[in-house]
Amino acid sequence: MKIAILGAGNMGLSFSKSFLKYELIKPENLHLITRNEAKISKISEEFPNSKISTFDDVKELDSDLIIIAVKPQDFQYLSENFPFQLNQSQMVLSIMAGIKIEKIQKLLNHPLVVRAMPNSPTLLGMGITGYTSAQGISFSQLISIERLLNSTGRSVYLENEELLDGVTALSGSGPAYFYYIVDAMIKAGIEMGIDENLSKLFVQQTMLGAYHLINNSDKNLEELIHDVASKGGTTEAALKTFNENNLKEILKNGILDAEKRAKELNG
Ligand SMILES: NC(=O)c1ccc[n+]([C@@H]2O[C@H](COP(=O)([O-])OP(=O)(O)OC[C@H]3O[C@@H](n4cnc5c(N)ncnc54)[C@H](OP(=O)(O)O)[C@@H]3O)[C@@H](O)[C@H]2O)c1
Repeated sequence: MKIAILGAGNMGLSFSKSFLKYELIKPENLHLITRNEAKISKISEEFPNSKISTFDDVKELDSDLIIIAVKPQDFQYLSENFPFQLNQSQMVLSIMAGIKIEKIQKLLNHPLVVRAMPNSPTLLGMGITGYTSAQGISFSQLISIERLLNSTGRSVYLENEELLDGVTALSGSGPAYFYYIVDAMIKAGIEMGIDENLSKLFVQQTMLGAYHLINNSDKNLEELIHDVASKGGTTEAALKTFNENNLKEILKNGILDAEKRAKELNG
C-alpha cells in the first residue's frame, strides 16, 4: 500500500511513525506533504527513506490512500488548490475535526472518504479513534484502514457520522482536559509548599494509580469516590467546594461547547 499524508504536522507524523513501526507500509511508500519548505530537512531526518514534498511541488499523487491531516481551517485552501482528480481505486482518510464526509467528497470531487477522529496519545500507540465511512467503501478497504488506525491505539467504527463531533469533544480534545486538571492539582501542591518536581510526581502517579483502579475494580465511579471520601474527612472538604461551585457541570458544559465548535467547523 502507498500512503500520502497531506499535512505533516503532529498528527500526520505520529500516524506515519506508527505505520512504519508496525511495518504496515514500507518507508519508500510513504509520501509526506508539508506546506512549509523549511520543515522538509527536519522531517527527512526522521523519515530518511520516505518521499517528502511541499504541497506546491506535488505533481502526482499515486498513493492508494491519501490522509488529510491539515487543520480544518486549512482545508478550504488545500481543496481549492488540489491539482489532482483522484481515481476510483484511491481512498481518502480525513482526521480533521468537524469537516463532514459530504463536504470532503464535494470539495475533492471524490466519493471514497473515511472520516476518523484520533487523539494525541496515538503518538505512543495509546490513542483512541472513532471513525465512519462514506457509502461505497468496501469492507476490505475499511478493514485495511482500520488496521492502520489500530497501529495508533484502539479504534471504534461508528455508524452515525453525527456522533463523531461528540467523539471529537470527548476523546479528541480529552487529553487537554486531563492535562488541565493535572496542572491545577500540581499548582495546588506547589501552593502548599511541595516542590514542583515532587508535586508532579505525586499527582502523575496518583492519576496513573487511580486510572488502574477504575479499570480493575468492580465498583462504579461513585463508589470509588465514596471509598476515598470518608465522612468529615479531607476529600469530603474538597468535594464540597467542587460541588458548591458546580465543577462537574462546568466541565460537562465545556465538553458540550467543544462539540458545538466541531459542528461549526464544518462551516
Ligand atoms: N492534535 C490533536 O490532538 C488532534 C486530535 C484529533 C484530530 N486532530 C486533527 O488533526 C489535524 C492536524 O492536527 P495537528 O495537531 O497535527 O496540527 P498541526 O501540527 O498544525 O499539523 C497540520 C500540518 O498541516 C500543514 N499544512 C497546512 N496546510 C497544508 C497544505 N496545504 N499542504 C500540506 N500541509 C499543510 C501545516 O503546516 P504549517 O507547519 O505550515 O502550519 C501543519 O504542519 C487537524 O485537522 C485536527 O483537527 C488533531
